[in-house]
Amino acid sequence: MRIIYEPNEMQEIAKKYREWNKKIGFVPTMGYLHEGHLSLVRQAKQENDVVFVSIFVNPTQFAPNEDLDKYPRDIKRDEELLRKEGVDFLFYPTVDNMYPDGFQTYVNVEELTKVLEGASRPTHFKGVTTVVLKLFNITKPHRAYFGQKDAQQLIVIKRMVEDLNVDIDIVGMPIVREEDGLAMSSRNKYLNEKDRKEAVCLYQSLQKAKELIESGIDDTNTIKTEMKKTIESYKIPKIDYININSLTTLEELNKIKKNDTLISLAVFVGKTRLIDNLWI
Ligand code: PAJ
Repeated sequence: MRIIYEPNEMQEIAKKYREWNKKIGFVPTMGYLHEGHLSLVRQAKQENDVVFVSIFVNPTQFAPNEDLDKYPRDIKRDEELLRKEGVDFLFYPTVDNMYPDGFQTYVNVEELTKVLEGASRPTHFKGVTTVVLKLFNITKPHRAYFGQKDAQQLIVIKRMVEDLNVDIDIVGMPIVREEDGLAMSSRNKYLNEKDRKEAVCLYQSLQKAKELIESGIDDTNTIKTEMKKTIESYKIPKIDYININSLTTLEELNKIKKNDTLISLAVFVGKTRLIDNLWI
């Protein structure tokens, strides 16, 4: 595996692979890798001739009060994991390389970013879409892989790619979970022992929603109330939001719509904000 730090060099390599008619698979990450990230890498390996992974903790998607400085990092361990998976190139740029002096161009997906994570984190998605489009232009992939864990991110990126005629297939992959159901996340590292035990409440509340839907209940208020009760049966967690939306438009739903429903929630467990979701 080669590690590339310079955007220009990465772009030249991508151009070469395109000239050689090789299919490029790309997995953008912020590092501190876990099985969720690796599931994307494995899928990319299966479907392409060459796999590029990026690790870049992107400052523009963190608000000033968020965890940019303490975001977990371990590049040596990440390198090792990616090598084992047979990744061909790791793109690992610096902040100055990605955002040199004078940088002033941003991509904004207007409506889809006003709700859910976008409502709680108003500047977040502008940073995500901007860096992802930059990474796409640098790595020139045929396919790019994203987790359903960040459901709104996946929906927003699909919208951006369609709206801006970006010729890349966006592949969404299922959420990888710990044994007790907690969705894997780099931020799980912040949880102390007590928090970690209670963090399962997100998954539990989604399971509750699933049971209700399977029993024929389709009123979203009833489902949200039951999910809330599940979370409130724990001591530490504090709900940020519980929402039920259309997967395509993200508008709030009164009734569950088969194949077009996203149940999502954000919960503070101690100081750590966790998100999880269920696609119906
Ligand atoms: P990061 O949080 O590192 O996640 C990188 C990719 O891994 C995202 O597509 C995310 O949805 C996926 N992922 C994370 N946890 C997962 C899990 N438990 N199961 C399946 N997939 C999982 O998302 C970002 O980075 C950034 O916003 C980025 C797209 C790299 C732009 O900076």
